[in-house]
Amino acid sequence: MTLETNIDPTPKGEVENKDKTKSVFVRTYGCQMNVYDSERMTGLLKPLGYKAVDHAEGADLVILNTCHIREKAAEKVYSDLGRLKKAKKEKAMQGGEMKIAVAGCVAQAEGAEITKRAPQVDMVFGPQAYHRLPEMLAKAARAKGKILDTDFAVEEKFDRLTTRKAEGPTAFVTIQEGCDKFCTFCVVPYTRGEEVSRSVDQITAEVRSLAAQGVREVTLIGQNVNAWHSAPPKGHVEIKTKPNNNGVWGLGSLCRHLAKIDGIERIRFTTSHPRDMNDDLINALAEEQKLMPYLHLPIQAGSDTVLKAMNRGHTADHYIKLIERIRKARPDIALSGDFIVGFPTETDEDFEKTLEVVEQVTYASAYSFKYSRRPGTPGAAMAKQVAEPIKDERLARLQKLLEAQKQDFNQKQFGKTFDILLERVGRHEGQVIGRSPYLQSVHIDAPRDMIGSIVKIEVTGVTPNALSGRLVDR
Ligand code: 5AD
Ligand code: SF4
Repeated sequence: MTLETNIDPTPKGEVENKDKTKSVFVRTYGCQMNVYDSERMTGLLKPLGYKAVDHAEGADLVILNTCHIREKAAEKVYSDLGRLKKAKKEKAMQGGEMKIAVAGCVAQAEGAEITKRAPQVDMVFGPQAYHRLPEMLAKAARAKGKILDTDFAVEEKFDRLTTRKAEGPTAFVTIQEGCDKFCTFCVVPYTRGEEVSRSVDQITAEVRSLAAQGVREVTLIGQNVNAWHSAPPKGHVEIKTKPNNNGVWGLGSLCRHLAKIDGIERIRFTTSHPRDMNDDLINALAEEQKLMPYLHLPIQAGSDTVLKAMNRGHTADHYIKLIERIRKARPDIALSGDFIVGFPTETDEDFEKTLEVVEQVTYASAYSFKYSRRPGTPGAAMAKQVAEPIKDERLARLQKLLEAQKQDFNQKQFGKTFDILLERVGRHEGQVIGRSPYLQSVHIDAPRDMIGSIVKIEVTGVTPNALSGRLVDR
């Protein structure tokens, strides 16, 4: 899926423009990885004089950081581009210029097709190319043509993205990108490329720098985050963990290592694959209290026939047994998952098995989707595609069950006492919002200068989407 690269190595300084402030609007679609990438793009543009704004109209640069995972997400980009065409025209009529860039997975998958379908687009670049944004802008300023960069040099990107500004007490940190699992429904192996892990030294440096800026919680992200592996850090002498057999570190060892960084109080990671949930990681969940007791572990479907057709590489029984092991190791853990209904060949009986898994596991929260046929993936070409009304009906039944489990889980928090990390001010005067260990939003009355601290609260109220609580003495 690597397409032509059309970039010249213009030195960064060429487009530096500190005198004149320009504006950039970045719209993010899809997953947390895109949220992270958008933040990094905004960070890269700052030294070039770009200020982030919250609307596209009148902006000098608009970047759509896109998602290709389901058809709806990809189509949304084109409808947004339609609106941007008008905004670009208006800006031109006022004597200005708006550059439009399509970044992310739609850019990677569709490349030059985008500028054919939407000629108002000036730049198209994939998720592994955005660190070259300064060069691309320099080139766009000089040339009249379109810029296309969908190269897959992910290591180069990691090397270039070294400094980072914190945006509050929590932060995402990419530790791994891409995927080699090739689930037959999924575009990720094609849009994000093969699995690549960042080095321990790079990750440690980023987390240290974030901690020094006041970050208390890091969420390690990757499409297959628990497939992360790397050599131990240079010169490390004693580390409490046992590295995996061949001396390579896995995610468990990394989490223990990061937990030692001063200021880091909470660590999360997402998204995990059942096949990569090894003993070292399960032991780390049991032993390292800074690891939050919340695990996003998708199964996708409950029928072994469907799981096989999906190329998931595990059965429902393997997943259930894995959950039992994890719960035994960390009894307070809560689970979250992803589900797809209506994958080709899924019968009513197959679907019932998905409901059975949900009943058996019980989830604190979950995402569920109708299967979306993605061009180029094996699933799209499979016979026995499931009709849309059947998918609708299955999704409604599954979501009803998952929602009931979520509400039940939330209700169970009533009267409990736990630590929350205060993240931001709330909508009401004197209100501050934090997150429970289970990622639930918790509203409390507290002074805003407490943001960034971890406080003990008692849960005094439960609403469908949030908890409320009161501060309690330590
Ligand atoms: N159709 C529907 N859902 C999908 N996902 C990935 N690909 C598809 C698809 N083609 C879902 C999976 C995955 C989540 C990120 O998106 O559940 O875990
Ligand atoms: Fe997609 Fe499967 Fe890889 Fe997850 S494991 S990113 S669902 S191919």
